[in-house]
Amino acid sequence: MMIPSPWRADFPAIAALQRQGQTYLDNAATTQKPQALLDALTHYYANGAANVHRAQHLPGAHATQAFEDSRRKVAQWLNAGDRGQIIFTHGATSALNLLAYGLEHLFHPGDEVVISALEHHANLLPWQQLVHRRDLKLVILPLDADGVIDLEAAADLIGPRTRLLAISQLSNVIGAWQPLPELLAMAKAHNALTVIDGAQGVVHGRHDVQALGCDFYVFSSHKLYGPDGVGVLFGRSEALQQLRPWQFGGEMVLDANYHDARFRPAPLGFEAGTPPIASVIGLGATLDYLAGLDQDAVSAHEAALHDYLLKGLEARNGIRLLGKPHLALASFTIEGVHNSDLAHLLTEQGIAVRAGHHCAMPLLKGLGLAGAIRVSLALYNDSEDLERFFEALDQALELLR
Ligand SMILES: Cc1ncc(COP(=O)(O)O)c(C=O)c1O
Repeated sequence: MMIPSPWRADFPAIAALQRQGQTYLDNAATTQKPQALLDALTHYYANGAANVHRAQHLPGAHATQAFEDSRRKVAQWLNAGDRGQIIFTHGATSALNLLAYGLEHLFHPGDEVVISALEHHANLLPWQQLVHRRDLKLVILPLDADGVIDLEAAADLIGPRTRLLAISQLSNVIGAWQPLPELLAMAKAHNALTVIDGAQGVVHGRHDVQALGCDFYVFSSHKLYGPDGVGVLFGRSEALQQLRPWQFGGEMVLDANYHDARFRPAPLGFEAGTPPIASVIGLGATLDYLAGLDQDAVSAHEAALHDYLLKGLEARNGIRLLGKPHLALASFTIEGVHNSDLAHLLTEQGIAVRAGHHCAMPLLKGLGLAGAIRVSLALYNDSEDLERFFEALDQALELLR
């Protein structure tokens, strides 16, 4: 069965990569970009760059308008109530660091920060550092055999000492959706703050942060077909009031003298310095492009392609999947084959997949693995990409076994 992608031609880099003999299946690391984004970047730079929120002149007004339009588009994309709840950062990592520093004053020795065993380093290390700084306890929610956070264990571990819960929506290693409503309800029952790492989840389907009911939600534009260098921190208004600035500089002050300063509220109070203006405008254009797609058709395509990937892997001997992926990707190891040898042979054949610990070392160590191969899909991939991958995999395995 063929699974073509009707959106492939919208992404010029896919054809360019194909001319270079490359099949790109590393989309959980970063994605290729739609023509609509390239046009928006060219338009901005070709028509006059200007700084935002500070200049009186016309180019400054145009740039500020386009920048704030993007904020509105992000708010709409997440169904946030108000664009003032959208803070632009440099990525998911910087959004999570902003939270770990900006909420630090709320923690007292002995308080608990709860994360899960599958977190990306971006949603582990900032909390680990906060725990060290404030003498807190880091509590790790275990997973079930499918790679989903174990809710029974979570019910025991989330309690009156829990001050904050920070978890991924969709694992970048296992590809499993996590049970957010249940976990958020447990945290809220103990008045804990809640942070969702949407870096992978935001890419698949539409998400509604108001329905979800989390305090904070973060993602990176570059994984959602947008430009790199920009990320998003959504915060509920009441939660944002508790957040303190972490970085200080231009455009975030209300008033300053040599010895003291007062800061603006969100969002500008958390956007010190010149922001990534072109990237923010480009993210807005990318969201316009994505909003114009038939979301049901995209979801059906992603599901069909994922099914094709899983069936192809299951049909081959000795492949061990990590957990039970629901969508978007699959990570695996192969009996008797070292993942870096396999990755090397796949690379030689122009297959761009990821090998290693996927920035989740503790998870891989817990599974007794040094690394795994990950194939990750995007809306522009098709079954021919996967056929090329399987062909290369079979040839590599013939050599290695
Ligand atoms: C689940 C998850 N969280 C956070 C990140 C960090 O994103 P960035 O490197 O864009 O800040 C990633 C990136 O791979 C991720 O997969």
